[in-house]
Amino acid sequence: MKIIIINGPNLNLLGKREPEIYGSETFEDYYFLLKKKYSNIELHYFQSNIEGELITKIQEAGFSFDGIILNAAAYTHTSIGIGDAVKAITTPVVEVHISNTFSRESFRHQSYISPNAKGIIIGFGLDSYELAIKSFL
Ligand code: DQA
Repeated sequence: MKIIIINGPNLNLLGKREPEIYGSETFEDYYFLLKKKYSNIELHYFQSNIEGELITKIQEAGFSFDGIILNAAAYTHTSIGIGDAVKAITTPVVEVHISNTFSRESFRHQSYISPNAKGIIIGFGLDSYELAIKSFL
């Protein structure tokens, strides 16, 4: 089982970015624990602040991996290009968000990913990623 977590813009700042919304743990620390707990699966991780790099990674993983866990962050709400990439590939994509985007500003209620996602996990903090892994097992 080969799964990749793809994180979009500003998620490299987890731990110091708006901790009241996103918590105080860094993604690297959380990912280290995930890798240990799910050592039976081949787990990969990629983060970029650049829209095109995210699209390239979705394309690269999108015909060979068993699952993509995608938190496109702010691009979720703006990027037709990332939405099209999710539609173009054969690997199922689970969309995740750390915060409950529906309890926040209305511009966060729109997602270009959701229509083509296998499922959506929103609002469980970093546990959203673990729930997404479990959805593939
Ligand atoms: C987010 C929610 C987005 O609205 C926001 O732009 C992010 C993070 C989340 O995981 O809660 O950067 O995707």
